Amino acid sequence: DDMGQEERAFQARIDEGIKIEAKDWMPDAYRKTLIRQISQHAHSEIVGQLPEGNWVTRAPTLKRKSILLAKIQDEAGHGLYLYSAAETLGVSRDDLLAALHSGKAKYSSIFNYPTLSWADMGAIGWLVDGSAIINQIPLCRCSYGPYARAMIRVCKEESFHARQGYDIMMSLCKGTPEQKAMAQDALNRWWWPSLMMFGPSDAASVNSAQSAQWRIKLFSNDELRQRMVDQTVPQIEYLGLTVPDPDLKFNAETGHYEFGEIDWSEFNNVLKGNGPCNRERLQTRVKAYEDGEWFRDALLAYADKQAANKAA
Ligand code: ACO
Repeated sequence: DDMGQEERAFQARIDEGIKIEAKDWMPDAYRKTLIRQISQHAHSEIVGQLPEGNWVTRAPTLKRKSILLAKIQDEAGHGLYLYSAAETLGVSRDDLLAALHSGKAKYSSIFNYPTLSWADMGAIGWLVDGSAIINQIPLCRCSYGPYARAMIRVCKEESFHARQGYDIMMSLCKGTPEQKAMAQDALNRWWWPSLMMFGPSDAASVNSAQSAQWRIKLFSNDELRQRMVDQTVPQIEYLGLTVPDPDLKFNAETGHYEFGEIDWSEFNNVLKGNGPCNRERLQTRVKAYEDGEWFRDALLAYADKQAANKAA
């Protein structure tokens, strides 16, 4: 039948590495899964500003404050970029935001943890943005053109974020024993949630097989998680800190670190909305949106006036 033929031609283009563009024919399910992933990604960037926003007024130096501000503003830009990429698929930003604000839409589990000390700014940049890079570099080559292209700049900025995070950790680890203890405490609290960012195990990942066939996913959740552990453990050792995992060991035969079991019940609980900060994050986001209503109204009033002037 026709549909079958269209779908086969679509898959053949993907297999050849040809990018799919907004106006190309695509299966409904491809469109749907991209809207799901890109909008969740956009929401994560926006909600991801909140844990770090908590420390802007308490940054230890002017230089640290301007770096942190720049980084948080980058995240806002990533969110807007990604909402635009999602809009190319025929959804409206208003609908996506409504889904976020009603608690229907997901965003990354990682942003539901609290930022208790300045060291958390180091741990987030280093581990969270570090993990985001590992997950997003392959997305620069994913099959959907607008998403892949958006990821290029996003990844460059994420590299700056990861570098500034590691720099904070370096300073703390070279500092007083109290500062080093603060760095260790932040690592202890952010390590496992960072591993959870990569999603459920491959065995439990419902979307992976189809997303791999469509080249939205070039590597599996577990592959990317392993890459993060292999890359980060030597950095932890360089800082003179301890990996908070008694089961961690290097396997010389495979060349990979083996690590302990992730607490999936914690992960699932955060996804269900019951993490330490889920409610607070959502409330803050909804309030920010409501507080911005006067500005959206002004934009619309201005646009109406312009249109009326043109018509006159
Ligand atoms: N936090 C919240 N939800 C998650 C997480 C997580 N860390 N990991 C997986 N999930 C959700 C999935 O969204 C999916 O839910 P859904 O079907 O209702 O949408 C469900 O758990 C099952 O997971 P998978 O089948 O593995 O889902 P998927 O194939 O979408 O893979 C992944 C998840 C790896 C996160 C993928 O969506 C992805 O690569 N997204 C783009 C990157 C991104 O969103 N990063 C945001 C955080 S980092 C940042 O940029 C600030």
